[in-house]
Amino acid sequence: MPTAAYLVRNEVWKCLADFRLPDSLGFGLVAAPVMYSATFEGGQWKQGELLPYGAIEILPGARALHFAEQVFEGMKAYRVGRPAANLFRARDNYLRFKRSAERLAMRPVPQELFLEGIHAVVGACTAFVPDKSGQSLYVRPFLFGTEPGYAVRASTSARFMVIANPSEAYSAGVMKVLIEREQVRAAAGGLGTVKAGANYAASLLASTRAVERGYTVALWLDPTTRQNIEELSGMNLFAVIGDELHTPVLNDSILPGVTRDSLIVLARDSGWRVIERSMAVAELLRQLASGECSEVFACGTAAIVCPISLIGDSDGREYRPGVIDARARELRERLLAIQERRAPDPYGWTSEVIPLVRPDRHGRVGT
Ligand code: COI
Repeated sequence: MPTAAYLVRNEVWKCLADFRLPDSLGFGLVAAPVMYSATFEGGQWKQGELLPYGAIEILPGARALHFAEQVFEGMKAYRVGRPAANLFRARDNYLRFKRSAERLAMRPVPQELFLEGIHAVVGACTAFVPDKSGQSLYVRPFLFGTEPGYAVRASTSARFMVIANPSEAYSAGVMKVLIEREQVRAAAGGLGTVKAGANYAASLLASTRAVERGYTVALWLDPTTRQNIEELSGMNLFAVIGDELHTPVLNDSILPGVTRDSLIVLARDSGWRVIERSMAVAELLRQLASGECSEVFACGTAAIVCPISLIGDSDGREYRPGVIDARARELRERLLAIQERRAPDPYGWTSEVIPLVRPDRHGRVGT
């Protein structure tokens, strides 16, 4: 647990007291009432603070706005049947956040500061972490370059923030995906393996077109040969082929998902054979048509584990797996049970967050 070295603005207590969780949450639509912010200036990190959620000031010339100097993480806090919330694999999210910053030549946020921001927001919002299974407080740490200027070099100043949203799963229900044959999400050697906003920007046009054609999301192919399956922007893909679970092997353009890794561990520990390999899209479509591939699903922090009912190709052909949400459901249940601390966590993946308590007028807490 990080030490509370951050400031809590006075207005925080009132906005926490006034906040009510609405009945309908959606994903990322309801903002938690507080946020955390720390700035990097003059070669050092300044003291972080917890403040009411609201608009921030940024210079119009800031490099984040011109050169997409921005990285982020997606995490969740859970509180099913318990008074305190917990995180899931927070250190793995930190390590990816650090790698993301380094890839963009940004000064990484120190681990203690990262955890301080997460714990500050989740601790303050403990009462607003939804407590139904499948719901969570979605936590979004992000870092952006604030120095103005058009010289294409890294910012010397930056801001690290954590915001959060009481949420349902990202995509509730079954997804239909459309193979994207024209564009690529990330170049070989580009930003694909890190969580940079720029990757999501690159995916927007294809996602928009996929949605216009009645699909949920685009399925990306590799940028070099355009033959192999990569990922779904924010989600990794798994296919049940025969008795085995197959997933694209990580390369230099796929984002290594924390959920992807967790499912591989859980599946292997359940005795399933999991194969990470280069997955040709043509082969998968043949296996879907023949029935050899029985089930396909996606996973991600936001999406959890989401069944896929249809894969569409640009020529209009559509392929339907024979089974929807069997293995996916099993894995989702096993994962959620650990994430929500309804089942033992033999992997040490979960960590509790101490709720933030308002000090009395003498500055004391809990006495
Ligand atoms: C996450 O799963 O946390 C992501 O960042 C994906 C995004 C599309 C919501």
